[in-house]
Amino acid sequence: MSLGAFYHGKPDHPGVVVVGAKGMLGTHVCELLTSLGVPFFAVDRAELDLSSADAVNTSDLDMSAVWFNCAAWTDVDGAEEHEERALAINGGPGLRALCARVKDAGGLLVHVSTDYVFEGTASEPYGTDHPRSPIGAYGRTKAAGEVIVETSGCDYIIARTSWLYSPYANNFVKTMAKLTGDRDELKVVSDQRGRPTSAEHLARSLVGLVDAGARGVFHVTDGGECTWHEFACAIRDGLGHTCEIAPCTTEEFPRPAPRPSYSVLDLSKTERVLGAMSSWRDNLEAVLNHLRVQGRARSA
Ligand SMILES: NC(=O)c1ccc[n+]([C@@H]2O[C@H](COP(=O)([O-])OP(=O)(O)OC[C@H]3O[C@@H](n4cnc5c(N)ncnc54)[C@H](OP(=O)(O)O)[C@@H]3O)[C@@H](O)[C@H]2O)c1
Repeated sequence: MSLGAFYHGKPDHPGVVVVGAKGMLGTHVCELLTSLGVPFFAVDRAELDLSSADAVNTSDLDMSAVWFNCAAWTDVDGAEEHEERALAINGGPGLRALCARVKDAGGLLVHVSTDYVFEGTASEPYGTDHPRSPIGAYGRTKAAGEVIVETSGCDYIIARTSWLYSPYANNFVKTMAKLTGDRDELKVVSDQRGRPTSAEHLARSLVGLVDAGARGVFHVTDGGECTWHEFACAIRDGLGHTCEIAPCTTEEFPRPAPRPSYSVLDLSKTERVLGAMSSWRDNLEAVLNHLRVQGRARSA
């Protein structure tokens, strides 16, 4: 059933709701739907607090719609100290209530999850059916959310993604764009391997999965894989910066939350539906172009 099939042609029934619409991914989903001419409701925490079952149960938003859930607690390090608060958003009563109402109304929940539901020590890409085994608080809360969605009985797509970047919001690409421009030298970890994901590409893939009538768990990232160090070098080179980027180990950069050393997600199931995922180098180039335009506009 395609996105359009959820639209009944009434102004009060756009057929699509985006939750967490002001976040990095939410912004891209809204942009894409706008460019496709698909009517939708965009809500964020102020309009629908996903950590509250009451808020969900009393919401008059259309539960028979396609719900893109882009809302989350995404502060990986902060979740170590505030796991209960992160759980409330990522895998709490509000999400359970949303699933129940979407199920009763015959809607579809497109729920976004993460490579952090795995322990991150594999040596080959994680399949969609690999058992969840998070090593940190954020991953535990996201894994809890997946279980709620899977066991709710609602129609769902769970899309796990990793290393999200965009011209908007704070993310690795924007940080590196700034640091490699400002500094002469930098250290970036070279012992963590994964798949970067353009949020714009993820948004397109989510809509593609809905339009293809897909259901179940999918992995959606850019094609290819790299280390953070390789990714940083590609950002520097793409922007023509000359900063020296030295590889370093995770141990040299202790963080509150443990980081996966290998979190490459297997894309084969998704690629059978959508075709080959576009490569992170191509998607990065598109984002760097956007940043160049932003930079020129700022200095004009
Ligand atoms: N970023 C990554 O590298 C990454 C990697 C893998 C997976 N993911 C997953 O991808 C999805 C999108 O991530 P993102 O980076 O786009 O997130 P983001 O930029 O942090 O945006 C999250 C959005 O959710 C909203 N939100 C937070 N708590 C809420 C609540 N209780 N009710 C309603 N909305 C709430 C936030 O609003 P406030 O600003 O008011 O808090 C924000 O607008 C998430 O499921 C995340 O777990 C992200």
